[in-house]
Amino acid sequence: MSWIDNDSYDEWEDNWLDHIPPRHRAKLTRSANKQKRPKVTINRDLEEMIASLAEENDLVSSFETTYTRNMDEKHHERRWLLEALSGFYHDQMISDVLHIVKGGKEANVYCCDAHPLTGLPHIAAKVYRPRMLRHLKNDSLYKEGRFVLNQEGKQVKGNRSVRAMRKKTGFGQKLDFATWIMHEYKVHNQLYQAGVDVPKPIANGVDTILMAYIGEPHYPARTLSDTSITPVEAPLLFERILENIRLMLTLNLIHGDLSAYNILYWQGDIFIIDFPQVVDARKNRSAFTIFERDVVRVCQYFHNFGVEADGRTIAAEMYQRYLDAEL
Ligand SMILES: Nc1ncnc2c1ncn2[C@@H]1O[C@H](COP(=O)(O)OP(=O)(O)OP(=O)(O)O)[C@@H](O)[C@H]1O
Ligand SMILES: [Mg+2]
Repeated sequence: MSWIDNDSYDEWEDNWLDHIPPRHRAKLTRSANKQKRPKVTINRDLEEMIASLAEENDLVSSFETTYTRNMDEKHHERRWLLEALSGFYHDQMISDVLHIVKGGKEANVYCCDAHPLTGLPHIAAKVYRPRMLRHLKNDSLYKEGRFVLNQEGKQVKGNRSVRAMRKKTGFGQKLDFATWIMHEYKVHNQLYQAGVDVPKPIANGVDTILMAYIGEPHYPARTLSDTSITPVEAPLLFERILENIRLMLTLNLIHGDLSAYNILYWQGDIFIIDFPQVVDARKNRSAFTIFERDVVRVCQYFHNFGVEADGRTIAAEMYQRYLDAEL
């Protein structure tokens, strides 16, 4: 399988290891368990892993999409996209990948046909690029107070994965990355359940998040930064975004990268997106600074459409009121 299901973290970790090429994995397991692990277990694991890799290869090779059909077999995007999405195809979540919506610095977003079982017409697949692995060093500001989470959002303590992440081994970095995606998805889900205006989350994998696609297939919703809103709707949208920010605060959550670039606009509605930087206000010492920056950026955008609001004052008042915090 190419994604995380609801099994326990340890089970997930073992599935996840199946994605690593045999030689690489043998190295990982050897270094992690040099003394404890008997040779015979490694051999058994290796057999299971080879079987699992063969199964995954079958899954990937039996998956073709409108978007990748005419790409060269060796095209790197074709390879990682099919690998990232074939599991979702075989699990009847998506039935095709139509086109790329946006190629970002860290992830590409693709428009997919949704499988009828999902009840949605289209799904947006946010697929992180492999080279994203290199950018995880600078996330300490956001990660403070964040723990390694399993798929159900429970904290994982003291197992070999956590140690590997601390040591920043290659294996640890990959786990770190997978944890990052889980965090993004978990927060996304939590916000959706709480009624925050976000696209409906559908599923996640080790490098992918699926969510409802906003817009028409060839006319994706634009970000606010890319849209001209009317002076009549500006104050209404502004108030709605503040409502969303308040709602997040009641969950102790701060977006961390909120701006007109991470808010989609579609037919009078707004959808907040992009949650890897979300921080827990109770656990991060820079929480207020991060929060204030979010609010100020939103106010700056709406200022261009005639809405007068002092972001810093609004941020301080909201923070004190909803978090009952001393500033
Ligand atoms: N659910 C969605 N429906 C339609 N389009 C979407 C959806 N989610 C994301 N997009 C498009 O993909 C772009 C990138 O998404 P997102 O902001 O989550 O990723 P990112 O890694 O931060 O990319 P960037 O570096 O461009 O900000 C968005 O600006 C938007 O155009
Ligand atoms: Mg973004």
